[in-house]
Amino acid sequence: MEIIIQPDGQQASQIAARIVAKIVREKPHAVLGFATGNTPLQLYKNLVRMHRESDLDFSGVSSFNLDEYVGIPPAHPSSFHSYMWAHLFSHLNIAKERINIPDGLTADIPAYCRHYEQAIRSAGGIDVQVLGIGTNGHIGFNEPSSSLSSRTRIKTLTEESRLDMAAGFGGQEGVPTHVITIGLGTIMDSRMCLLLAFGKKKARAVARTVEGPITAMIPGSVLQMHPRTVLILDKDAASELKMADYYTWVYEHKPDWQKY
Ligand code: GLP
Repeated sequence: MEIIIQPDGQQASQIAARIVAKIVREKPHAVLGFATGNTPLQLYKNLVRMHRESDLDFSGVSSFNLDEYVGIPPAHPSSFHSYMWAHLFSHLNIAKERINIPDGLTADIPAYCRHYEQAIRSAGGIDVQVLGIGTNGHIGFNEPSSSLSSRTRIKTLTEESRLDMAAGFGGQEGVPTHVITIGLGTIMDSRMCLLLAFGKKKARAVARTVEGPITAMIPGSVLQMHPRTVLILDKDAASELKMADYYTWVYEHKPDWQKY
């Protein structure tokens, strides 16, 4: 794992945007895995700005989102469909037919999940998977106890996650109980994982993900087994890391050819 600690989320998101942009420039038909939540908002703003101000072209790109609520129509203001169109897709020249977000209204969830996995494979696999992390260590919506080799499927949200999502649904009671999420095995198949985490609230989950044992109780910890995972953190999210000084030293002493 590469751990990059930045003074704030703004600077962290600039590095993240440079990483995604480099992949798109090198591979115009790249397959991008997107996440929702507050954390990647600044990354998406940067990508939109780079698209407007430079030659960053998304016309050949495909995308797959991590997850969606079950039973929530795409037009619901708190659906992940609405989020992605509001913050990213409406502002890029990405082809609509190559955008994939799980369908929370599908009638046959198991068949749909198999189809989603197949669509990722047919597109050539995910080149870079953007990830946030839940306060309980979930990635995507793979809640604690998720199989480390899980594929796209329905999951039941924990109370903690439903509490974290309460604002978008007028309180915890309104938060859907189920989601469709790509699995930990699906995430592990991505060529690169790019996990962002900002704020004190994430410090414990980050420390357990990076420095704790690999365990289904902290789903993010499976990334220790991934050959190419980069975590970009702000100071607060890094505050419980025991080896923070070492990670900072490593980043500052990267050879030029390795810099983002
Ligand atoms: C949800 C999403 C995750 C996201 C997490 C953290 O659970 N399914 O993909 O990483 O929220 O959200 P935030 O970035 O708002 O803290």
